[in-house]
Amino acid sequence: MKKYYITTYGCQMNVHESEKLAGILTSLGYSASECEKDADIILFNTCCIRENAEDRADGNIGALKKLKKQNKDLIVAVGGCMTQQKGYAEQLIKKFPFIDIIFGTHNLEDFKTLLQKKLLQKKPVLEILEKEQQIKEGTPKTRTSFPNAWVNITYGCNNFCTYCIVPYVRGRERSRKLVDIVNECKELINEGYKEITLLGQNVNSYGNDLGDVDFADLITEISKIDKKFRLGFMTNHPKDLSEKLIKALANSDKVCKRIHLPIQAGSNRILKLMNRKYTREDYFDKIDLLRKYIPDIAITSDIMVGFPTETEEDFLDTVDVVNRIGFAGAFTFVYSRRKGTPADKMDGQVDENVSKERIMKLIDLQNSINRKQSENYIGKVVEVLCEGFDQKKNMYLGRDTYGRMLYFEGNEQDLGEFVSVKVLSAGGISLMGQKVN
Ligand code: 5AD
Ligand code: SF4
Repeated sequence: MKKYYITTYGCQMNVHESEKLAGILTSLGYSASECEKDADIILFNTCCIRENAEDRADGNIGALKKLKKQNKDLIVAVGGCMTQQKGYAEQLIKKFPFIDIIFGTHNLEDFKTLLQKKLLQKKPVLEILEKEQQIKEGTPKTRTSFPNAWVNITYGCNNFCTYCIVPYVRGRERSRKLVDIVNECKELINEGYKEITLLGQNVNSYGNDLGDVDFADLITEISKIDKKFRLGFMTNHPKDLSEKLIKALANSDKVCKRIHLPIQAGSNRILKLMNRKYTREDYFDKIDLLRKYIPDIAITSDIMVGFPTETEEDFLDTVDVVNRIGFAGAFTFVYSRRKGTPADKMDGQVDENVSKERIMKLIDLQNSINRKQSENYIGKVVEVLCEGFDQKKNMYLGRDTYGRMLYFEGNEQDLGEFVSVKVLSAGGISLMGQKVN
């Protein structure tokens, strides 16, 4: 049997898109390979949101030259956000002439056709579509994260935050039909999946292009599915978080008690330059509203340092937000210049060393907050969805409704099930516990 090997860079959106690529390859009779050297086709699903994701992909593609020499039949394919950038595919093939297929974000679901084309011709297949296509339903998926499943609800983004390349490489926002999403969720739950995460660059604006439904309606509809499961979603733009939606979240017995609400920066001046369309005060108000309806909700965030012109004072505003809100977790990033974005042309790019210093301070602060939160867990009994087994720790692991990871002594039957765990100790951000009945 022929084998495939896929390397994924970037976010959950990409992880799920790789599940689609794997699904297409499975439908063609391929199976997953444990390593690159046993594979007949090696695929890179790339990301370009920050420079380091691009650099890693570049290095890994380059390293395949040797394998390609040893195995003339090996097919190397590169797709995703990085190749979708203007002129990038041509540059890539010049640099790595051994690549067989280059595709972008708008034709990922046509991979079967691209592969068949390549198998009939010697020269590389290089196909990047400039414009977004109509949503295609029914692409097979080989899911890799049971008992969790990802479900796309929107594609693309209309927000144009000034630092971000996503709207340029993923096109305008398009929503899947509510009935298609609900049916996919029903199927997954019937197959035994216990947690569904809805995916979109900004889930809160789901339905804006459909006219008659919004994200709150979608949440309410999926919550009606009559079996035990958890429902999560990401990412949310604070500007579109409405009271109607918060009420729908609070009224659902399926929605997880966590929300990922990227603030990006704590300074109003920087937020304006970022084109985020909210102030820090607006953000605090949204948090108050969330906590009014769901008092124990865990809030996580994305935070960036080193955006052009960021001063020490601006950075201290970010530190202040982190201190005040007490995020349950935060992804912290150093601003990365992306060609074609407005921020790339701004004066006042921040010195790399200054950014590094700021991010270290931010990480330390967030870690200390998480450590305190962990200590508060000790002695509590929480419901954990068992996701896997950690070989190193020799323990099972899973997450609670707040998204916290817990390790516990369990057995194989726990995999994919909800189990009650009493938290006994906390080491940094990981919690250890014991199963209780
Ligand atoms: N540089 C650094 N971080 C970025 N993000 C998006 N674009 C950039 C960039 N140019 C971060 C944002 C976003 C997350 C997915 O990635 O914080 O929320
Ligand atoms: Fe990028 Fe902003 Fe869209 Fe998120 S909302 S994908 S940060 S442009």
